[in-house]
Amino acid sequence: MMGKSKKSWEKRLVGQPDPLMVDFVQSLSYDKRLYKYDIVASIAHTQMLADQKLISKAELKEIKTGLIEISQEIEEGKFKFDKMCEDIHMAIETALVAKIGEPGKKLHTGRSRNDQVAADIRLWMRDEIEALQSKITAIQKAFVKLAEKYVKDVMPAYTHLQRAQPIVIAAYLLSFVEQFERDFIRLKNCRNMLKISPLGSGAITGSTLSLDRESTAKQLGFSDISYSSIDAVSDRDFCAEFIFDCALIATHLSRLAEDWIIYSSNEFGFVRIDDSYCTSSSMMPQKRNPDALELIRAKTAGVYGSLMAMLTILKAQPTGYNRDLQEDKIHIFSAADTVKASLVMAQAIVSHAKFDTKKISAGLEEGFLDATALAEYLVGKGIAFREAHGIVGSLVASCEKANKKLADLSLDEFKKNSPAIETDVYESLGPINVVAKYATDGAAGPKQAKEQIAYWNKQLAKR
Ligand code: ARG
Repeated sequence: MMGKSKKSWEKRLVGQPDPLMVDFVQSLSYDKRLYKYDIVASIAHTQMLADQKLISKAELKEIKTGLIEISQEIEEGKFKFDKMCEDIHMAIETALVAKIGEPGKKLHTGRSRNDQVAADIRLWMRDEIEALQSKITAIQKAFVKLAEKYVKDVMPAYTHLQRAQPIVIAAYLLSFVEQFERDFIRLKNCRNMLKISPLGSGAITGSTLSLDRESTAKQLGFSDISYSSIDAVSDRDFCAEFIFDCALIATHLSRLAEDWIIYSSNEFGFVRIDDSYCTSSSMMPQKRNPDALELIRAKTAGVYGSLMAMLTILKAQPTGYNRDLQEDKIHIFSAADTVKASLVMAQAIVSHAKFDTKKISAGLEEGFLDATALAEYLVGKGIAFREAHGIVGSLVASCEKANKKLADLSLDEFKKNSPAIETDVYESLGPINVVAKYATDGAAGPKQAKEQIAYWNKQLAKR
């Protein structure tokens, strides 16, 4: 059975479309979430049409009232989405005509779905960016709060996942606040790109009607209009940019997830994920598995997939609107939804996490974390760094053989390797002494961590 098509161009085509076709080309099933933006943009457009005397004041009133009613019906779940309508734009317009008759047929004056959808997506993205940013701020605050508890507690920093130098736990946690801050700024920059209104570009050339493009732009909070009608309906580069920003958030979340999956293992035992965010095993009764973190790590893959899909949709599209563009929404929606869910989950995990400072301290003497500080001590005694590096290298090698740490060496043993070494050497040895000696801004010591916590508390309170 062929359904009754509701398309405005049905007069051009002979007969009814194959239901297979109707189902294949539709986007209503997923773009219905744009309804609010579509209606707001339609109201602005109608207002402009009336101001330009392209429709009457009475028609404006009827269209506006009809659109607001439709918006409420959708909001309350009372709206019947007509499956024969391709997309949310057609569904709303069709419902409007059914509701108010003749005036409804004037809504689409001087407009195409091509410029309409380009506007709707920008409006949606603007809100979505704000939602993402508030979730970023929330996780940043969670990190700062956790960092406040561990300003003085020392842990090893790793490079190549090998023990490197000592840091305070707070510094480790604050490194994520920095990552998410860049994500926040990237989204802000992306939002800046969305300030241009494509409305009035029509299908591709603009219109012969006296549309006031500045008016619709202003009503919808755009700060400028696009100056190429062709480009305005052809490109969705901002969608790729948005997904890229989401992909980097997901990247940062995946790094956190990976760290804490490792850190919560028995081998490390650095961090304890709260029971409420662990799962157990159906067979092994002792298990506490970090499944949420593993899923955050895995979900990153889907966001990268969306980015690749979006870029590939855009690639080599001939100038002008092509139906390919319809699929952009699948990927921007999916990327935004996934990243928001992961941010919220990660924030909950961070807010309830505890570091096992006892366990971490017990292992701190492993791995010669103070070796670099010793080399820098020698630099302070006038020895060239390359030479100092060599001296400490051989000291470490002999300590390793004797199963000693650097601080176990006697002054005589030190002096045998370098006469420049004096009794004050012991102040530069041991992880706790070392972190207290970090002197550079942004270093991973307690002094810097305290400053950074104060900075972030002030900064994040403004949001
Ligand atoms: N659903 C379409 C999209 O999202 C709307 C534009 C359709 N335009 C057209 N000429 N078929 O891109």
